[in-house]
Amino acid sequence: RIMILDFGSQYTQLIARRVREAGVYCEIWPYDNCEEAIKEQNPAGVILSGGPESVTADDTPRAPDMVFKLGVPVLGICYGMQTMAAQLGGKVASSAAHEYGYAQVRARGHSKLLRDIEDHTTPEGYGLLDVWMSHGDRVEVLPEGFTVIAETDNAPLAGMADEARGFYGIQFHPEVTHTRQGGRILERFLFEICGCEALWNPASIIDDSIAHVRDMVGDDGKVLLGLSGGVDSSVVAAMLHKAIGDRLTCIFVDNGLLRLHEGDQVMATFAQHMGVKVIRVDAEQRFLDALAGEDDPEKKRKIIGNLFIDIFEEEAAKIEGVEFLAQGTIYPDVIESAGAKSGKAHVIKSHHNVGGLPDYMKLQLVEPLRELFKDEVRKIGVELGLPSEMVYRHPFPGPGLGVRILGEVKKPYADILRQADHIFIQELRNHDLYDQVSQAFAVFLPVKSVGVVGDARRYEYVVSLRAVETVDFMTARFAHLPFEFLELVSRRIINEVTGISRVAYDISSKPPATIEWE
Ligand code: XMP
Repeated sequence: RIMILDFGSQYTQLIARRVREAGVYCEIWPYDNCEEAIKEQNPAGVILSGGPESVTADDTPRAPDMVFKLGVPVLGICYGMQTMAAQLGGKVASSAAHEYGYAQVRARGHSKLLRDIEDHTTPEGYGLLDVWMSHGDRVEVLPEGFTVIAETDNAPLAGMADEARGFYGIQFHPEVTHTRQGGRILERFLFEICGCEALWNPASIIDDSIAHVRDMVGDDGKVLLGLSGGVDSSVVAAMLHKAIGDRLTCIFVDNGLLRLHEGDQVMATFAQHMGVKVIRVDAEQRFLDALAGEDDPEKKRKIIGNLFIDIFEEEAAKIEGVEFLAQGTIYPDVIESAGAKSGKAHVIKSHHNVGGLPDYMKLQLVEPLRELFKDEVRKIGVELGLPSEMVYRHPFPGPGLGVRILGEVKKPYADILRQADHIFIQELRNHDLYDQVSQAFAVFLPVKSVGVVGDARRYEYVVSLRAVETVDFMTARFAHLPFEFLELVSRRIINEVTGISRVAYDISSKPPATIEWE
C-alpha cells in the first residue's frame, strides 16, 4: 500500500483516487499525524501532496523526518517536492514568476520516473510534457544526491530525483487530468519504483470487506442497518447480506417524502430479489403530522432527522440481541471529519446527512465502505448485483421531498411533486440526458398561477425543474438542457399532473444559489 501525506492541497483526494484507479490501495494521512500509522502500515511508498503554504516560512508544514529514513520511495508533488528539497538540504525560494495552469516541462536525463514519457519532442530531442502547474515557490538548489529531471523556463528545477534512494520530486500535478501523462507517471512510481502490484479491484475489495466484517461480527453477531435506498446504504446492505446473510436486518423508514414508487422499489430489490431481511416502516402520517404548520427549512430538516431516529430506535428495540450497527460512511466523510477535527483549512463540505444515531444505543459500528471513494462504492455495488440505475442514481437528500416542497409540507403537495418529478426523470432517461447531469429534480412552489385548458381557466400550483452539472456539489452550473426537451417535459407535466398549471426551469448556478431550493 501507498501512504499519501496531506499538506492541504485541494487535489489530495484526487491523488488517492488516481492511485486506487491504478489498482493500488492507498490512504491519506495528515502530515502531522501519520507517524504511528506509517510504523503500523509499513507502506511500499509515500507520496507528499501539494499544499497552499510556502516552504520559505519557518512555521509551515514539514514531513516527519522518518519518512526519508524508511528505505521506501518517496514522491513529492508541488509543495511536497519543495518540502522534500528543503528538508534534505536544498534551497527553496519564492519565485517572482508564479506559474498557474497549463505549462510545458522539458524532461531531462533518464530518470526512472519520466523516462520515455512525453507528449511532444523538441528538435534537440528532449521530451516535452503538457502539465498543470500551480505554485509560487520553486526549488533553487538541489539537495545532495539529487539530479534535475524536469525544467520549465520559470522553474529550472521543476523535477528532481535521487534514484539511489528512490526520492522523486515534481513541481507539477500528475493527479489532474490536464497533465496528460499524469496517470502514466503515477503508475511508473507505483509499479516500477515502489514495486506495487495492481491488486485493488472491485472483487478484491468485496472479498476483503467480507472477511473483515465476518471477523468483526463473529459467528453469531447480529447487525442492524438503516436502509434509505441511497447508494451507500444499498451497497452496505448488499455487502453485509453476502457476508452474514440473515443476521443482517435492515430497517427502511418510509417517511412519505420519497420519490414515486421508491419505497416499493427498495423492497423489490432487497427483500424480494436479493432475499435481504428488510423491515419497512410506513411512517408517512407521523412525518406529515410532525411537519404540520412548519415552514422553516432548517426546522423541517431537524424534525425529519429526529423523527427518523425515534422510529429507528423503536424498531431496533423490537429486535433481540443486536450488537452492531452498520453505516454507509465513505472515505471522503472520514477524511473530511479528520480534517475538521484537526482544524485544517481545507475542510471543504459540511456534512448534512440525517441518520446520526445517539451514542446511548451502545452498538458497535460496522462501516464496510469507510475506506472507499464514491466511484469505488458504485463499482462494487454493480459487482454485488445491484441494478445499475440504483447505483448510478443522482444524490437524493436525507429529508427528501421535505425540502423540495417549499414551506409547509402537505400530502397533496408531495403527491403532485412526485408525479412531476417522475416525468422529468423519466424523460431525462429517455433522452439519454440523465447521466449527463449530476442531479435533477422538481421543486414544488405553493403559489398559484393562472392557466387555460380548452376554454376553462385554471388556477393551480407551479413546479420548477432543476438540473445541475457539478463535480463536487460545492459549485454547480445549471444544466443547459435543450429547449425542445424542456418544452416536452413542461407539456407532459401540465397535461398529466392535475394541480399544476405552470412549469419553470431554474437557471441559477451555485453559488450564489444552492442546488436545493431550501
Ligand atoms: P445544496 O442545496 O447545499 O446541496 O447546494 C448540495 C448537495 O447536498 C444535498 N443536500 C442534502 N443532503 N441532507 C442531505 O442528505 C440535506 O439536508 C441536504 N441538503 C442538501 C443536495 O441534494 C445536493 O446534492
